[in-house]
Amino acid sequence: KRTLIVDCDTGIDDALALLYLLGDPGVEISAITTVFGNTDAETAALNTLRVLELAGRSDIPVAVGALSNWCGEAHLAPYVHGSDGLGNTNLPAPATAPCDEPAAELIVRLARENPGTTHLLAIGPLTNLATALLLEPELPDLVEHVTIMGGAVRHPGNATPASEANIHNDPEAARIVLRAGWPVTMVPLDATMGEVLTEKHQQRLAECGSPVAAFTSTILQQYFDFYERDIFGERRAACHDPLAAAIAAGDVVPVLAPVVPTDVDTGNGPGRGATVADVRGQYRDFPTQEGANVRVVLETDRTFPEMLVDRLCGAPEP
Ligand code: BDR
Ligand code: CA
Repeated sequence: KRTLIVDCDTGIDDALALLYLLGDPGVEISAITTVFGNTDAETAALNTLRVLELAGRSDIPVAVGALSNWCGEAHLAPYVHGSDGLGNTNLPAPATAPCDEPAAELIVRLARENPGTTHLLAIGPLTNLATALLLEPELPDLVEHVTIMGGAVRHPGNATPASEANIHNDPEAARIVLRAGWPVTMVPLDATMGEVLTEKHQQRLAECGSPVAAFTSTILQQYFDFYERDIFGERRAACHDPLAAAIAAGDVVPVLAPVVPTDVDTGNGPGRGATVADVRGQYRDFPTQEGANVRVVLETDRTFPEMLVDRLCGAPEP
């Protein structure tokens, strides 16, 4: 089994990613940590606990992390994910509470206890991972792999013309994480914007009879509202975090994912938060570049939404 710690800002697509992973027989989630982003980190933890309850997995520890980036900024996104972060579904308070240990400390502790076997999946801003790296500079040797949903390489940004939201929220942290030398798989908008959930998928989720699937169909309403209004002009939405989760789980094998030097623009100009990956080798099969540690997922085969819906429809009752 692959052991994952998931760092997230739950969030509609974060909830989909968690429910996808909770139904994955090849994955064990050892802990979930939360960060500001789609909503504040405390609400993200409560949302995570709600999702775990729905899946009958309240045994998984949830730890609250960074409430803002190190500059003290926290851009939240209620217009995308609803004022409660879960599509304005305003679910009752979860029966369980987050643990007392702060997110970054929990990441470091679990990595030390299980050297070489933990896979980090980060689907929010990278503040908790960067903090963990400062707490434990040996962390790159303790962790097996890091997968992040974030960035935009050949695709435009979504938070700004150059920058994707997770990186935009904390470019300095993203730079620390990408420069740490550990093996990273970055799943940027280039891949996630091609994996699109439609109203047909939503209808299947509503009708397949699983409570987990019905919940995801409900929260997709708000996500589709946003995408229709601001992105596609139609009721469909990108599978950002679920795609990264499926790649981290080993369920989706990217079609095009070169390992290339990758960095983040932390300047204060219009490129702030841009992920700059050296994809100049794109016309000759991306020749190996010495010292590169970031595998950039540029393309997947665009069949993932079906897989996601199948998984959610197959979810057992808690
Ligand atoms: C990313 O930003 C958040 O809104 C989503 O949950 C995803 O992690 C997409 O840019
Ligand atoms: Ca997210």
